[in-house]
Amino acid sequence: MRKYLQQDVIPKVQADLVLKRIEKDVEYISMLSEDLLDVNRINVVRPEEEPDYTLVSIFELLNNILSDISEVTYQKKLCIKLEAQFFSELLVKGSYKRLHQAFTNLISNAVKYSTENGEILIRIKYIKENQLQVIIKDNGLGIPKNELEKIATPYYRASNVNKVKGTGLGLVITKKIIESHNGTFKIYSEGLGKGTEVIITLPLVKAKKKNNNKIK
Ligand SMILES: Nc1ncnc2c1ncn2[C@@H]1O[C@H](COP(=O)(O)OP(=O)(O)OP(=O)(O)O)[C@@H](O)[C@H]1O
Ligand SMILES: [Mg+2]
Repeated sequence: MRKYLQQDVIPKVQADLVLKRIEKDVEYISMLSEDLLDVNRINVVRPEEEPDYTLVSIFELLNNILSDISEVTYQKKLCIKLEAQFFSELLVKGSYKRLHQAFTNLISNAVKYSTENGEILIRIKYIKENQLQVIIKDNGLGIPKNELEKIATPYYRASNVNKVKGTGLGLVITKKIIESHNGTFKIYSEGLGKGTEVIITLPLVKAKKKNNNKIK
């Protein structure tokens, strides 16, 4: 295709535009097909059937995600804080890969729907009856209040985000992963420009040995 477009049949500027458009569409289609595969896979595979079922330190997992995306957060001049109580004990039984995917979706949303110099606060805490709570709060674009209910349904993207890329499947996948780990997912926003807050709860496991965290 690139070769054909570069054969002077159409002017170079126009050919470049067509190629860019095609590249963007291919990127979108591959993002969509990966997400679609995940939606279906998560429906059939329980976390305990995943090959990496283990004790997951939520503090470490969130820290790893933050270092993976540090380039983007630096470029966008975002201030991200990660706060945790008793971080070495905050362990959850589950698939590291799936939990990583769920929290990456949430943190990526906070990043991509934040404006430059935005602030993101991630707080992990104990709540009653051995539950762990993770709060991810940003002060970005926010979500129109009347759209909040639809936001975690497949392909739904709020009316204020059309300039930002996405397939509208991230939250669907996240919710499925969290619920398959016996957790809960809630999303709040006071409206346009007023930021967004996501609250996740997960059952907590207290582990005595920090180094040997593989479940047999
Ligand atoms: N932190 C946030 N701030 C503002 N809007 C948000 C936030 N998180 C989610 N949304 C809204 O919810 C919609 C659905 O989010 P979701 O993560 O499912 O899809 P997406 O980000 O559009 O695409 P992708 O599937 O690539 O993640 C978004 O399009 C956006 O309108
Ligand atoms: Mg998303």
